[in-house]
Amino acid sequence: MAFYFSEPSRTFSEFLLVPGYSSSECIPTKVDLKTPIVKFKRGEEPELTMNIPLVSAIMQAVSGDEMGIALAKEGGVSFIYGSQSIESEAKMVARVKNHKAGFVASDSNIRPDQTLQDVLDLKEKTGHSTMAVTEDGSPNGKLLGVVTSRDYRVTRMSPDELVRDFMTPFEKLITAQATTTLKEANNIIWDNKLNALPLVDENDHLAYFVFRKDYDSNKENQLELLDKNKSYVVGAGINTRDYEERVPALVEAGADILCIDSSEGFTEWQKRTLDWIRGKYGDTVKVGAGNVVDRDGFRFLAEAGADFVKVGVGGGSICITREQKGIGRGQATAVIDVAKARDEYFEETGIYIPICSDGGIVYDYHMTLALAMGADFIMLGRYFSRFDESPTNKVNLNGTYMKEYWGEGANRARNWQRYDMGGDKKLSFEEGVDSYVPYAGSLKDNVAISLNKVRSTMCNCGALTIPELQQKAKITLVSATSIVEGGAHDVVVKDASNQTMN
Ligand code: IMP
Repeated sequence: MAFYFSEPSRTFSEFLLVPGYSSSECIPTKVDLKTPIVKFKRGEEPELTMNIPLVSAIMQAVSGDEMGIALAKEGGVSFIYGSQSIESEAKMVARVKNHKAGFVASDSNIRPDQTLQDVLDLKEKTGHSTMAVTEDGSPNGKLLGVVTSRDYRVTRMSPDELVRDFMTPFEKLITAQATTTLKEANNIIWDNKLNALPLVDENDHLAYFVFRKDYDSNKENQLELLDKNKSYVVGAGINTRDYEERVPALVEAGADILCIDSSEGFTEWQKRTLDWIRGKYGDTVKVGAGNVVDRDGFRFLAEAGADFVKVGVGGGSICITREQKGIGRGQATAVIDVAKARDEYFEETGIYIPICSDGGIVYDYHMTLALAMGADFIMLGRYFSRFDESPTNKVNLNGTYMKEYWGEGANRARNWQRYDMGGDKKLSFEEGVDSYVPYAGSLKDNVAISLNKVRSTMCNCGALTIPELQQKAKITLVSATSIVEGGAHDVVVKDASNQTMN
């Protein structure tokens, strides 16, 4: 006879946190959101932690290199999507690893034999007025000069005038060596009242610019997540088919952590993938696995050697798996159950395996609930897809800006490996939709607001850390009518357009 769970499975919106005692010491600025991302032994420190408990989903519409840089700057990790060629995924990883905060690869470059009209066209295209004049017009060509809007007057000059005749030539520029530190570069900028400082190698080839306008933002990112070489930490998705080629390429590119991206983690395919990675790299390559939604699935992946376990089937905003296949579990119940299994495993073995709640976060308070219910960190797709840094188009739909967001199981992504159960190399039916989400601005601004809410709620529960929240949280189910009571009710809201989703 089939096994029946005694309780229905539930979503985050069915729960609330009940305030606990909060001392005067418990204030949001003191909350520490640091959290482990890989397994560790009792009494030891995890080899990899994050400064905020957020990771971006392994999806084409979410995690490219720009997202990777922006999220690491705030203290989290992006998992670059795996549903692309090995080469292009590895390149994205390398771009995050090679990004040096404050050092900008020049995106506006021109040759000396081009014209003022070319300068104006380039400015229109990139939106940047500082241009490097390089011998071959490439970002790393020999630097011959710089053009800024101070070098020309459109009203007084012919559009045919040559760049070499009005640029500020190399001999008159203040430059610095490519090995210069950011602090030194900023000092040179201040001392010489510059707007931009070109950094060149020993052959005078352009390496980067450091801009005066970035000075404040370079100082601000106290939570940024760096590896021991001061590069941003980044993750990458892999699948259970081409790991023998993909994993070495991603490791070579510098990925700090991998994750098997699959809708179904409780499979022999995942064990084979983990076995191969352990056989080749031992514990030096960190890899998460999933997704699972109960104790059995967690135990399977824990014993197979996963560094973290991802939780969630069918709860994603673009997901239609439950409708199509009738499998899944309410996300809150799945997290609660798997967190119990993790704690039980820790008791038994002394090994703590972090769990990641993946999908289904709609309101910011869902993040706090997921953490309180036992998640060590949270993976979000829809949330991040709305920001400038997601790799999708921003479109104007009837006067409202939207970003595109599609599931990995939608025809558009064609990520058959994610749904692979050993069948054909194609998606035989869709498990995701193609959609729009309201454009929400920069990652930095949005993450700051969301996490301020999380910190504030943690203080209401008397907790200054995530483990403390998990110990102290008091969680209650809510009735349908009390959900109505939770929003503005029985009043006419003056400006409903000010009410945001999160
Ligand atoms: P969201 O944050 O609610 O948008 O959920 C994102 C999560 O949905 C991802 O991290 C995946 O686990 C999952 N997902 C991505 N694409 C699909 C799909 O096409 N069908 C089902 N689930 C998906």
